[in-house]
Amino acid sequence: MAPFPGPRRTLRIMAQEAPTDIHSSLNETRIFHPQDAKCAGFDRWHISSLTEYKDLHERSVADPEAFWRAEAARLDWFTPFTHVLEWTPPDAKWFVGGSLNACYNCVDRHVQAGHGDETAIIWEGEPKGAHTSHSSSFSHYAAEPEILELTYRELQSQTSRVANMLKSLGVKKGDVVTIYMPMVPELAVAMLACARIGAAHSVIFGGFAHTAIAERVIDAHSRVIITADGGYRRGDIVPLLKNVEEAVELLDSHGHILNHVLCLKRTAQQPPSQRFHTGERRFNNTRFHWWHDLAPTVTDACPCEPMDSEDMLFLLYTSGSTGKPKGIQHTTAGYLAHVQMTARLAFNLIPDSGQLFWCSADIGWVTGHSYVVYGLLMNRVPTLMYEGAPNAPSNDRFWEIIARHKVTHFYTAPTAIRTFMKWGNELPAKHDLSSLKLLGTVGEPINPEAWIWYHEHIGGKRCPIVDTYWQTETAGHICTPLPGAIATKPGSCTLPMLGIDAAVVNESGHELPANKGGLFVIRKPWPGMLRGVYHNRERFVSNYWGRVKDPATGQPYYFSADGARRDSDGYYWIQGRIDDVIKVSGHLLGTMEVESALVSHPSVAEAAVVGYPHEIKGNAICAFVTLKSRWFSEHAGRQPDDEMRKELASHVTKEVGALARPDTIRFAEALPKTRSGKIMRRLLRDVACGVEKITQDTTTLEDFTVVAKLRADEE
Ligand code: PRX
Repeated sequence: MAPFPGPRRTLRIMAQEAPTDIHSSLNETRIFHPQDAKCAGFDRWHISSLTEYKDLHERSVADPEAFWRAEAARLDWFTPFTHVLEWTPPDAKWFVGGSLNACYNCVDRHVQAGHGDETAIIWEGEPKGAHTSHSSSFSHYAAEPEILELTYRELQSQTSRVANMLKSLGVKKGDVVTIYMPMVPELAVAMLACARIGAAHSVIFGGFAHTAIAERVIDAHSRVIITADGGYRRGDIVPLLKNVEEAVELLDSHGHILNHVLCLKRTAQQPPSQRFHTGERRFNNTRFHWWHDLAPTVTDACPCEPMDSEDMLFLLYTSGSTGKPKGIQHTTAGYLAHVQMTARLAFNLIPDSGQLFWCSADIGWVTGHSYVVYGLLMNRVPTLMYEGAPNAPSNDRFWEIIARHKVTHFYTAPTAIRTFMKWGNELPAKHDLSSLKLLGTVGEPINPEAWIWYHEHIGGKRCPIVDTYWQTETAGHICTPLPGAIATKPGSCTLPMLGIDAAVVNESGHELPANKGGLFVIRKPWPGMLRGVYHNRERFVSNYWGRVKDPATGQPYYFSADGARRDSDGYYWIQGRIDDVIKVSGHLLGTMEVESALVSHPSVAEAAVVGYPHEIKGNAICAFVTLKSRWFSEHAGRQPDDEMRKELASHVTKEVGALARPDTIRFAEALPKTRSGKIMRRLLRDVACGVEKITQDTTTLEDFTVVAKLRADEE
């Protein structure tokens, strides 16, 4: 198939810069010891001392099969597995021969055990004071702001109904259903409904644009999209259905057969005539279905399909170092076993103890999959979902939510914490945050200053902070403090999770001594590990298993693409990505994705994108752009200016989504290249960071030839 969605050029062959010794400058010495359980507000810890952790970890790595067998026993199985692991590197099969169902493990088994009337999900909508017209059939318990509460029984009946709706649209076991929805409870219901009937879900973050949707739908061979007419975000409506409509046009033009769009009505205060009009114009009657029309046509009884342990539970697209996102494949039993264990231990989850867990991540990312939905429901601890932005209508919305619902666990990203810091200490101080017992961070390295602020101003100096390091590919936590057992150091994700054999090694796979920066690898398989990149075996093997090997056996190690060091206490300090992927506000972006979007603009000849440090976002995007000579002849006498920058930035937003919008665009006459034609990315990074002083005027049109010549011999 031709590259999608239109002509995209590969600018260059990726040349990874291999840091054999990553310089590490962070020198944080503060240590926070675990409090006793009572002091932190818990009844007990699952793991309550460093000695206990060390003993368990040692045993879990020495005999992973025994460890994971015991963890898998916490799940409900339709057919027991016959053996724990089949490992033919890089292919792992976990819990071989077993069958189970993810929705059953999250929902039905709790109903059967007599917990049907307990709260499973609490949801709060963004609008306050505005009339909303959610077409949900869940019972409302408050109107202002809109709050819904779902019990396990309601979740069972809703997932069954939606499962039957999907069946009525022809969805079968093994199909991939695309979900592009706002943060409403129906999103969790839709995922679980897929799991119930054995269809894999592919959730696309609501911030992505229509081209990104179409690209993922095609890659996943998906024939059904579940969406909503819109979602609320910072007082505005995100036009999800409009984006889907545009994606469908692209899909049609590309010959992709999309059978159905199922649409929840969420923002009907937009003029309905307009919405229905656009709906009718773009979809024919047989393809477009309102959720509320289809729901009454089916029953709310649907059995849970027995799934083989290794059947795919979901696909989740993540950015890589090429222009095309990777469909990361997770399977049923391994994912569930890993995620239930990590959620239970890292957050010390204890059912029936008054806990309420709030992870502020969008379900469109892996954090939302694992620690808004699956990890919490499996452990029978209620999960809070919030639809909107932290500054809607005012900058203290999160603290208001914590106080209103008496949240006990709060899990968010460093970029959000840095934003809260900027907004001021008085905002959290206005609210009663005394219900909090534990705080978590995820997604990027947290700078010690933000860690301390979080500890003092949100955690009231009493809440342990778990800095959890992991990836879309790992399904769940890889390194994290266990709150009752492991002392924390601000900025470190501390020690490996049970069952994880982590190491910092050099290119030849040898473990590095303390405080030497190197490559973060996992040496043994674990159940949550990705099983593949959808339809791309080569990418799976080369991205993750092709770089580092066990020097003794030659077996591949899983390579995370992160640089890290271990300090003399064995604590891990993640130094960030060493591939061409940048973390912007906690979201992974392939520089190539942004470059591809830029060169699809008719005036752009070449583009190179790098990250540079940003106070709030962690990294910001800098694009170096060369315009075609035609642009100069068409705009006689004009130099590329802010207007052109705006045009290009909007183009990227349209192509990929707002999260990819470059923060800085710099025009260059040519991009600096080595003699063999590779773009000198390190030089561009230095320029973007302000390290390299260009001798010429750098504001409008950069001349890299001077610096490039100086550097050519180095590369
Ligand atoms: O670079 C690491 C960073 O996020 C990457 C994974 O991103 P993604 O697949 O989007 O998953 C994000 C949610 C797990 C990693 O390769 N990262 C994630 N958590 C941390 C982190 N870096 C440092 N500390 C963390 N706690």
